[in-house]
This record gives sequence, C-alpha cells and structure tokens, in this order.
Amino acid sequence: MQNKQLLDIAKEFGSPVYVYDASKIETQYKRLTSAFKKVKHLKVNYAVKALSNISVLKLMLKLGAGLDTVSIQEVQLGLKAGFKPEQIIFTPNGVSLEEIEIAAKLGVQINIDNLSILEQFGTNHPKTPVCIRINPHVMAGGNTNISVGHIDSKFGISIHQIPHILRIVENTKMNINGIHMHTGSDILDIDVFLYASEILFETAKQFKNLEFIDFGSGFKVPYSTGDIETNIEELGEKLSARFNEFCKSYGKQLTLAFEPGKFLVSESGQFLVKVNAVKQTTSTVFAQIDSGFNHLIRPMLYGSKHEIKNLSNPKGKERFYSIVGYICETDTFANNRRINEINEGDILTFKNAGAYCFSMSSNYNSRYRPAEVLVYKDKAHLIRKRETFEDLITNQIEITL
Ligand SMILES: Cc1ncc(COP(=O)(O)O)c(C=O)c1O
Repeated sequence: MQNKQLLDIAKEFGSPVYVYDASKIETQYKRLTSAFKKVKHLKVNYAVKALSNISVLKLMLKLGAGLDTVSIQEVQLGLKAGFKPEQIIFTPNGVSLEEIEIAAKLGVQINIDNLSILEQFGTNHPKTPVCIRINPHVMAGGNTNISVGHIDSKFGISIHQIPHILRIVENTKMNINGIHMHTGSDILDIDVFLYASEILFETAKQFKNLEFIDFGSGFKVPYSTGDIETNIEELGEKLSARFNEFCKSYGKQLTLAFEPGKFLVSESGQFLVKVNAVKQTTSTVFAQIDSGFNHLIRPMLYGSKHEIKNLSNPKGKERFYSIVGYICETDTFANNRRINEINEGDILTFKNAGAYCFSMSSNYNSRYRPAEVLVYKDKAHLIRKRETFEDLITNQIEITL
C-alpha cells in the first residue's frame, strides 16, 4: 500500500486505524500452497486468533482456507463467515469438556491435548473422530511465551504418554483421525521443524485410521527489510518429500495440514496513528501517539519490534525518537528509533500489524478500540467501526447506591 493511500485512509476513517491489504494475504496464501504443491492433499487452516474480523475470515474462505480455532466463539465466527463445520478444526487448551462437546455437536473437527479430557470425550462420544495434539518436546519459537512445544509447556500430550493415549483409545474404541503438533511461533531453523516432524511421523505410525497430520505453524515473517524469516520454499520442498514418503509407508494418502496465523496476515497489516505531541526531555525525544498498548500490546508483551515510518514526512531528515503511547503506565512502542522528522499531527504507520494486534486489543484506560479497514481490489472497506462511548458502557449495570 502506498503512502498516499494510507494517508487517505487515515483521513477518511480517522486514527488510530488498522489497515489490512487483502492482496498481501492472497500472496502469502499462494506462497504457502505453492511451496507444498507436491503434496496431494494440503489443508491450510487459518489461525483465527491472529486476526478474527469476519471480513478477513470471508477472504480466507474465498482463498480456499479452512480455520483453526481455539474457542467456541471463534468456531461460531467461522460458521457465521460461511465456513462449513468440517472446514474448521477446534484446538483449545484448558477449556471445559462441555465446550469441546458443544464444538463436536456443531460438527467441527475436535483436537484434544489432555489425557483426562481425551478419556472423558472418548467414553461419551466414541464415534466422533478426534485429532490428538502431541507435545514433541522440541524447543522452538522466538519468545518463551510463544514457545509451546517444550517439556515444561502446558500444551499437547507428551510423546512419553503415547502408551497411555493408546490405552484410552483401545478402551473407549474412539476413532483417532488426526495427529497434531504446534511447537511455537517464530521458528527460524527448518531443521528443528523437520526434527519435530519426524517425532510426529513416529507417533502417527501407531494410529491406524489417520486422515491427516497437522504440523501446526510458527513460521517466522520478516519485520524489516533483510530480517530473517522461515524459508517456506525450502521447508515445502523438504517436508513434502518426507510426508509423501511417510504416506507410502503408512499405506494411505493423508492430508498435510497447517494452521498459520502470522504467515498469512502479519505483513498485510499496518496500524496508523497520529502524533499528539513531541516531547523533548533531558535525554530523549518522545513522539506521543494517539494509541497505547491497549491497541497494540506486542512490543510491551513480547518485545516485538514493529517497523515505524512517518507517512506525513517520508523525506524529512532522520532523527532519533522514542515512540510512546498515552496509557497511564510505561507504554513504549520503540526506543531510540531513527525516523524521518516527526511533527505534531503527523501520521505514523506500524508495519506487521496484521497478526495478534487488533485481536489482542482492549479497552484499558477506557479507550475505544480502533477501526479496521480492509483494502480489497484497491478499494478501502471499513470492516469494523471505531468504538463509541455506548460500546464502553453497553454491558455495565448501574446500581442504585
Ligand atoms: C495451536 C496453534 N496453532 C497455530 C497458531 C498460529 O501460529 P502463528 O501465528 O505463529 O502462525 C498458534 C499460535 O499461537 C497456535 O497456538
């Protein structure tokens, strides 16, 4: 998206505003499917949690994706967007048996990552096909909060507990149709991913009725020019060959599934904000923007470094700024960043604002959550209105004191 188009969007819809480029989402989707073109049955289930706007889900449906969901509400959103239940996999962690049963009743693919739930679900619903989330005990991912496949992680059923899984399956006569892993986000080393895949293949051999193997996600995307990223093409080449070989030895053409969030939507998104004030202190020049970690928490939560550009003064002299929000506690988006000279009223953009940005936003400090815009076929569509005071109080109940 060009500067002018982004500035026009900020003018038309106000700031702060999230803007998503549908053509980038399509490019990423096609990149992934083409990297795995040698696999006969490939399924890309978009991880709804990354960006759950219903118009984005409809775009995914149009592209041919399925959905990976982690809450019954995400399942409901997917159904509302037009997905068929069989196009949705439900991969929760730590939810109640009741929530899983509701999802099963809706007809979505269930993925279980807990022995106790597996046993109870299998006993109650032996005919419902179930996928099992395995924890391969591989340390992957860029941040401890998003590395989820290691031994201390709460996710998945340990590979050391496979005999226990097999006993439950035998006793309940339940039907295991899929095996799954998700080791974490921001995987840099393909060999680590391939190593974890081997563990999954070993596990898969022990289940005779599989229809698919789900390798989760965790592909790292670049955050600036030259930044490292998962080499999807190389992974596609290597994993496809290994998967096809496995299917031969398994005696059945299985589906290879992925559930990417970041890879599909991160780079499509930009977050446009306005500079409220430039504040020079004894040590720093702060640019204070009309947003905070209530709208974009990733820098504070994960230390993620979103590239920031000054759209209003792209040719201005570069200077050093700390970009901070308006929240009543430390609220730093970037420290000492070299950015084209910033003046009050300028519009800045945060790159890589598609994944885990709006979807993690909140009303902290009683601020409204921003609007969202989808640029589709070169036209900007408002896909979420900015909140109003009405939205803030709609569920609050005033009692008489
Ligand atoms: C089970 C599961 N699948 C898929 C994803 C998506 O990961 P990413 O956004 O890195 O592609 C996540 C992310 O947390 C996840 O927990």
